[in-house]
Amino acid sequence: MSSTLFRTKKVEQSILDTEEPEHALKKSLSALDLTVFGVGVIIGTGIFVLTGKVAKENAGPSVSLAFVVAGVVCALAALCYAEFASTVPVAGSAYTFSYASLGELPAWIIGWDLVLEFALGTAVVAVGWSGYVRSLMDNVGWHMPVALGGREGASGFGFDILASALVLVITGILVLGMKLSARVTEVVVAIKVTVVLIVIIAGAFFIKSANYKPFIPKTQTVEAGSSLKAPLIELMFGWAPSNFGAMGIFTAASVVFFAFIGFDVVATAAEETKNPQRDMPRGILGSLLICTVLYVAVAIVVTGMQHYTQLSVDAPLADAFKAIGHPWYAGVISFGAAVGLTTVCMILLLGQSRVFFAMSRDGLLPRFFSRVHPRYKTPHRPTILLGVIIAILAGFTSLSELAELVNIGTLFAFVVVALGVIILRRTRPDLHRAFRTPWVPFLPIVSVLATLWLMLNLPFETWLRFAIWMVIGFVVYFLYGRSHSRLGRHQETTTDEVLKGQSHEAQ
Ligand code: ALA
Repeated sequence: MSSTLFRTKKVEQSILDTEEPEHALKKSLSALDLTVFGVGVIIGTGIFVLTGKVAKENAGPSVSLAFVVAGVVCALAALCYAEFASTVPVAGSAYTFSYASLGELPAWIIGWDLVLEFALGTAVVAVGWSGYVRSLMDNVGWHMPVALGGREGASGFGFDILASALVLVITGILVLGMKLSARVTEVVVAIKVTVVLIVIIAGAFFIKSANYKPFIPKTQTVEAGSSLKAPLIELMFGWAPSNFGAMGIFTAASVVFFAFIGFDVVATAAEETKNPQRDMPRGILGSLLICTVLYVAVAIVVTGMQHYTQLSVDAPLADAFKAIGHPWYAGVISFGAAVGLTTVCMILLLGQSRVFFAMSRDGLLPRFFSRVHPRYKTPHRPTILLGVIIAILAGFTSLSELAELVNIGTLFAFVVVALGVIILRRTRPDLHRAFRTPWVPFLPIVSVLATLWLMLNLPFETWLRFAIWMVIGFVVYFLYGRSHSRLGRHQETTTDEVLKGQSHEAQ
């Protein structure tokens, strides 16, 4: 039994599968496309919304250090992702990597986990986007009925029609083809990066050094609320729940980690890349580096413009400019955020449909979903299915806590990928690795420990929800995936043939 659960799919087989004409994706992306994709999905709700909340509640001006901590954890993981993506350039990212190194059950677990990460991530960002658009509409005097603005704030029925519509439009764009979505992304990314640079450059002129005092606010013990909300690490060690201080930086890091999610999504486009061996590491590391520098700069500027206790929680970057009497800048920033969040949704949805596609091509989900569109060469079936589900989810759910669930899912994938690098080096030392993670196994082990540390700083409640999703995943695997696995069937056929051959010989 354990041999079937941990059966691995040969890397060569994964690459061969991508060449079957019915299941092949078009190879059209370059290193620049990938970097743009990366930046397009990384800069989003995290920097535009969460910066203010964590500065105010957890870290004060030292939120910039929280971005450094989260950035370092991501960089360690990115080095592992880069090796995998350049060695196994197949749609499906961490899912495919684990199928090649850890075996079918771990691969299933990670695929299931990635579906959660991307689906909820798309929904979270769509709702954030809708908030910005409504605030811009309010500025020009168009007010949406409250019931169409989502569950939050609505009494009784509430449906976030804008968030839902955004997801459906993006689904349509993705079905039409990668190249179109890459072009749309380029324009939007340019707008978003410009707006972030405006915040940094214009904001730098309004920094007051007094706002940085204290840079790391003193630890404050908070009233013990529901233990479900406390970080797991505090419960494990029986620590009193607290905010600020050195520990506050780590709590903040585990939340602003959301701002970095996306570089791992670049890896899901490996199969659509012209020269994945060279371009994958460039795309992944390049986009992560650009974003980390921008984030730290934004955090330093915004906490210097306004005292952290005064920062707004909903739109901290725009509101900091309003607070110092520059509403025009605030308008431009809100506009940039509204435009910028569209690509985040688009690429998260893209990543998710590719993981689903890869799982279905392997037979772990129905094969129906892995037929590419005859004309557009895109995996239209999973894209449409997931797009519709997320559109409904984005319309009906209020999502602040779901962001933490997205974080835990992604961090879990980092752990698996780092372990996978160590294992694949041992089991397949012969494979050509265009990019090699330095100092293996030391660096991947540090990556696992750093990632676990951030995970432990997430609330107990988040761990619980994550566990429930995973249990459902196990049930689906044992009821469907295990018996339909293509790899499993292939192995059975091979065994049958060997047995037949042996009985012929015996006769
Ligand atoms: N990193 C993305 C964001 O911050 C998911 O919205």
